[in-house]
Amino acid sequence: INSNHLENLLNEMTIDEKIGQLLQVTVPFLTGASSEGQVTGPMEEMGLHHHSIRQVGSVLGSVGAKEVKQIQQNYLKESRLAIPLLFMSDVIHGYRTVFPVPLAMGCSWDVDLVKKSAEIAAKEASVSGLHVTFSPMVDLVRDPRWGRVVESTGEDPYLNQLYAKAFVEGYQGEDLQKNPETLAACVKHFAGYGAPEGGRDYNTVDMSDWMQQEYYFPAYRTAIEAGAALVMTSFNIINGIPASANQKLLRDTLRKDWGFEGTVISDWGAVKELIPHGVASDEKDAAKKAITAGVDIEMMSTAYLNSLKDLVIEGVIDEKLIDEAVLRILELKKHLGLFENPFRGANEQKEKELLLSATHREIAKQLAIKSSVLLKNERKTLPLDKSQQIALIGPYAESQDLMGPWSLAGKQKDVVSLAQGMRNISPGMNVNIAKGCNINEPIENGVQEAFDVANTADVIVLALGESEEMSGEAGSRTELTLPNVQLELLQKIKSCGKPIVVVLFNGRPLDLREVEEVADAILEAWFPGTEGGSALADLLFGSANPSGKLTMSFPHSVGQVPIYYNYFQTGRPKEQLPDEDRFASKYLDAPNEPLYCFGYGLSYTTYSYSDLKLSSNTLSINNKLDIEVNVKNTGQTPGEEIVQLYVRDLVGEVVRPVKELKDFKRVHLDPGEEKEISFQLSEEQLRYHHTDLKKQSDTGDFEIYVGSNSSDTLSMSFQLEKNEGGAYENNR
Ligand code: IFM
Repeated sequence: INSNHLENLLNEMTIDEKIGQLLQVTVPFLTGASSEGQVTGPMEEMGLHHHSIRQVGSVLGSVGAKEVKQIQQNYLKESRLAIPLLFMSDVIHGYRTVFPVPLAMGCSWDVDLVKKSAEIAAKEASVSGLHVTFSPMVDLVRDPRWGRVVESTGEDPYLNQLYAKAFVEGYQGEDLQKNPETLAACVKHFAGYGAPEGGRDYNTVDMSDWMQQEYYFPAYRTAIEAGAALVMTSFNIINGIPASANQKLLRDTLRKDWGFEGTVISDWGAVKELIPHGVASDEKDAAKKAITAGVDIEMMSTAYLNSLKDLVIEGVIDEKLIDEAVLRILELKKHLGLFENPFRGANEQKEKELLLSATHREIAKQLAIKSSVLLKNERKTLPLDKSQQIALIGPYAESQDLMGPWSLAGKQKDVVSLAQGMRNISPGMNVNIAKGCNINEPIENGVQEAFDVANTADVIVLALGESEEMSGEAGSRTELTLPNVQLELLQKIKSCGKPIVVVLFNGRPLDLREVEEVADAILEAWFPGTEGGSALADLLFGSANPSGKLTMSFPHSVGQVPIYYNYFQTGRPKEQLPDEDRFASKYLDAPNEPLYCFGYGLSYTTYSYSDLKLSSNTLSINNKLDIEVNVKNTGQTPGEEIVQLYVRDLVGEVVRPVKELKDFKRVHLDPGEEKEISFQLSEEQLRYHHTDLKKQSDTGDFEIYVGSNSSDTLSMSFQLEKNEGGAYENNR
């Protein structure tokens, strides 16, 4: 089938059939509709009838190969023009094999492994019948109160771009049409969803065009340049207009400026939500605004279905708008090969072979190992010694609830708990277990029992954290501490006077002041996925060495947020003024710095950095700068260090951040081994959006920083020289 065929198909479609293509509903609508046309609960609620369901263009939700085939078959039987259904779902960090949550994956700084996880997710999901994943979520995040930070890879625009590309390429493979074991990627949430005021989900977003272009837009654009087939609009407003009604955003920025030719889908119910937002008077107005803005598929509301036809008949909108949207959806179906094979990858036999295969589990384990971040390790409390008597205490000691938000196809029974992981590593190990309390509620006598178990141990491992529901969509919080019951448990256990290792399971940076005071060691495990317990046991006992580094700052207290490493220096920088100067930019009751900064993470070994060298003290458009630094493993354990390169533009047309990540390398070093690590920096990497929103660099003084995190660095200076042609300019 070629594009002419699609045009012909479009010409044959009635307006009702066309509008049907623009609607997306969940699976139960279809299964309800196929059982002799009965109107089921959700259909009734949405005012949908069997004849409309017979014409929907896509379905949301995941059910497995057998059911997908059944639904597709029943649907096609009743479809006049035999246009297959598209199956979409949220495959966010794995399918049946669940990988660590995206924020954790971000902390691995292992872009290739993350790409591999997306490949595996696509394999498992496509053989289970899915065609599209609502991933990657590339929203830049700076405020841990927002629960959806768990779905992002962090606060850095450069790193987020690398991950955005890796996810898209991993899901889509080289050829969506030729390889049915791939998924089309839907980058979301366009745009700026990660910056809601007060960290409250769905709340107002307000930022300058410059801020959008420089920080919030690049990762979406990178995902699109990597070939993402779809874009999902965000719930929030952008420049005062909700994304799903925002012509400037969808038609000018996305389509005209960035050349996106794929399909735009609204978020769940977002078209109808234009009414409570106060930019549409009713459903009809909402439909008009969304289709005019460029939303092709309306997810889970029926403004298009109920109003588009009338809008055309009344001459309010041109039918061409509908045709364009339908054509894009048909193109996507064609691109996925659905006209040739409407079942595409769906294959029950392959489902059995691939889902949770040993290879997939192994990658999940590797990723969980690399994603965990060692935040503290006093007196070499970690790694543990297998001969020690260990007390494993806390709500996460034996929990298999380690997958985190958006693990729809994952099953808890497949998850290796921390206790199980420890038992697997050494069956005869001396571990006594007590839960102590639930995540949010006390257990009768729980703390006392835990105390008794702790008292008999040499070392205590406390497995604490947030529940899955405390982060993710609609998971905003105003307090970032662990729940009180867990802090009470921690204090009681502290009174035993034994070394304490805290292992944390959570979906956001937390306020860890109290934990930091009490614990001898802290291992941030996030939600580590199916193989979480095995990965953590390897880390705790030292068969693996922690190497993850934070990609989102951990605030000292909630009052500091938003907090991020690439901030702008004010006119009254605290660091440059005497401590007693009241009128410096600072808090009276807290430091300006986070508790743990971006890029931070410890290891069981130590590394030293020395001999930072630049090939020249100038850089120009034709001459790149070579940067070299020696990194040595000065401890007793082999390890992997993430060597980070930052730059500061000292004087810009626009204020420039105090540090910007430009590159990094993950380096393996044996004990005593020293390596010369090199980077190359080009003029292009120094460009940023000037006030005219064009990307250019500034000539003048720069600072280079190389180190093991964003605060602990060696530094040198260089100058960017003016080239013969004058100002540096990039027309991108
Ligand atoms: O993909 C998600 C989105 O991130 C939040 N709202 C629901 C969508 C579909 O499940």
